[in-house]
Amino acid sequence: MTIDGINPSDPGRQLLQQAVADIPGECLWLVHCGGFQGIKPHANRLILDIREQPVAGEQCIPDRLPLHLQPTATQAQAPTATATDAVVWPRAHLGRDFTERCLALATSVLKPGGRLWCAARKSKGGKTIAGVMKSMVGNVEVVRRNRGYHLYRSELIAPDLAAVRERLDRTYSFEHPLLPAAITTVPGVFSRTHLDRGTAALIEFLATTRANRRATRVLDLCAGVGPLGLWALKTWPNAQAWAVDSNILATALTSHNARVAGMADRMHVHLGDGLRKPSRELARHRGRFDLALVNPPTHAPVEAFAALITSLKSWLRPGAEAFIVVNRAGRLRKILAESAASVEVHSVPGFELVRATWPQPA
Ligand SMILES: C[S@@+](CC[C@H](N)C(=O)[O-])C[C@H]1O[C@@H](n2cnc3c(N)ncnc32)[C@H](O)[C@@H]1O
Repeated sequence: MTIDGINPSDPGRQLLQQAVADIPGECLWLVHCGGFQGIKPHANRLILDIREQPVAGEQCIPDRLPLHLQPTATQAQAPTATATDAVVWPRAHLGRDFTERCLALATSVLKPGGRLWCAARKSKGGKTIAGVMKSMVGNVEVVRRNRGYHLYRSELIAPDLAAVRERLDRTYSFEHPLLPAAITTVPGVFSRTHLDRGTAALIEFLATTRANRRATRVLDLCAGVGPLGLWALKTWPNAQAWAVDSNILATALTSHNARVAGMADRMHVHLGDGLRKPSRELARHRGRFDLALVNPPTHAPVEAFAALITSLKSWLRPGAEAFIVVNRAGRLRKILAESAASVEVHSVPGFELVRATWPQPA
């Protein structure tokens, strides 16, 4: 899988890889960096998406929610601070707050005297990143340069633990009149500060056109933090929803948001690459969903996008509706046509709401 925001030949990544090439893997943490080539085996690599694969024998560790959002029964201990070196590769598209969270996570795994590393273009946020490193760790220096990139290093001597904790615990919350309760998010998930406009357009359309029809099994594919599934559970008090996403933090937040809404028993969460490897519990419902709601990752590579969309056919009961919200339906229409779907497009300001159904096989 290609990971968004990661290009192995980036000069900044090369600076980082060289800086930690000799560090024993057990003493090294890669914080949302993707895989590094040319490092010692057994590095600890924090991952955000379940599709990320280890390279060079790295040990992939799923990221997790701030402690105060984890259910008490499953609260995991913070990793012990045993690393000598921790690396952060900024993922610009996930926002500055995500980079800050990564820097805080990296700081929290370092033992005294450990080194925090980051590389960025000086002209594209490098100075701000250096400022954050300094505010948390107390010092920062540029140790190498390569084609506009600076390699920054801080040494853990007297970190500002309150500044680290504030970034580790950062959450957002937003509401919408059609949703059952406030939605909580963290940096690193889709549309973390507000309900996405496309998602809002879809539920507003469905609320006026579908609410008086019955749905008992709803599939929220690419669910993010769960707004579409939660809308369905509020609309149909006897319905069950299955929320599927590959983002580890997003699926944990869907569970959290369902708990807060008092709907945990009706919201089933599946962390996976779409519906490719369903759990046994989810697989029991193949071909039995009577509604699918999808705000898909339109920036995904075309094959991955098509695989997500065409999988709907075998999960819905014949004749059941899928609603998919996109900015422009062109590529989606083509994929749906190739999978023999009947398609209707409803245009609303800024979006196209695509209704797809698949008839019973002849
Ligand atoms: C546009 S966001 C929509 C999120 C949510 N439905 C909403 O309306 O706010 C797309 C979501 O698809 C997820 N995603 C991308 N590729 C995926 C895949 N192969 N399998 C499962 N989820 C995926 C992303 O993690 C992201 O949460």
